Amino acid sequence: MNAIAAPTANAPLLDRIERRFPLAMDTAIPKIRELYVAATRNQWDPERDIDWTALDPDAIPDEQREAARNWWSRRGWGEYGAISESPTLSVRFTQDRLPVEMALFFALRTNEEARHAETCYRMAERLGGYIPAPIHADFTKAIGSHGVRKMALDPDTSVECIIAALVCGLEEYAFDWFRLMIETTTNPVANKALKLILRDEVRHCAFGWHFIEARLPHMRPDEIERMRQAFIDTTIQVELTGYRVPWMAPDSPMTDKENRIDALTRAAGLGASIESEEKPVFIATMQRVRRRFAELGIDIPLFTHAKLGTF
Ligand SMILES: [Fe+2]
Ligand SMILES: [Fe+2]
Repeated sequence: MNAIAAPTANAPLLDRIERRFPLAMDTAIPKIRELYVAATRNQWDPERDIDWTALDPDAIPDEQREAARNWWSRRGWGEYGAISESPTLSVRFTQDRLPVEMALFFALRTNEEARHAETCYRMAERLGGYIPAPIHADFTKAIGSHGVRKMALDPDTSVECIIAALVCGLEEYAFDWFRLMIETTTNPVANKALKLILRDEVRHCAFGWHFIEARLPHMRPDEIERMRQAFIDTTIQVELTGYRVPWMAPDSPMTDKENRIDALTRAAGLGASIESEEKPVFIATMQRVRRRFAELGIDIPLFTHAKLGTF
């Protein structure tokens, strides 16, 4: 009898024996393979591809520069979270024996999120110095994690649930937000930084939809329902509580301060968005995402939020 018990199917993911073989390298989802190839051809370098010397910190009024320094630091914290979420998902893809092009694409996605974090860090440094941590503990919680890393290692949460919530939800909302900020950010260096980040995010969003489309024909109705619910829950509990932008968070002295940082950064043309400009954009995004799910036969209900109404 074997003295060492083999981990059961329900064991935590990292306790399981790695099942790498047979290692299939052929393509099962051609559209994701295409994203991988596009990503390899579209690499950029935050140090060289942005002319940092064109940003003169002394030309910006102190109050605005200080706000923008805070804003870009906060952006960096968010991007940093994505750096660890990507490889965690790759581990999961391998354990679930999902098509290899998913892990190939995510190897580059990790690299892209690293570039985003570095770009935000460099912007903050240029604006007077990167800030390594939020001042308020509550804020640390709000932006710290949306729980993807934990979910990725939880065998009871399907990859479909995670991708629907994280990519088809949170990354889609962020994509339109970046597009809006590119329209309103007049400082050429800040604008270039946002444009370069958006260039990568377009592939991140496409990945989510290609994956769900490929999986749907193989999913049972109860699995589809769980995925639908994961998207709804994440939208309500993460996005609509201010994970991405503080104006969506319930009013508190803490969010007043964060909203002021956003308003000053936006007024300086250095990034950020404000509630009045973003509201119609966010509602339109939600309608687009709902239509996209509807095309797949998945019904997404209306949402209600104190500042957005029912949409
Ligand atoms: Fe990113
Ligand atoms: Fe991303």
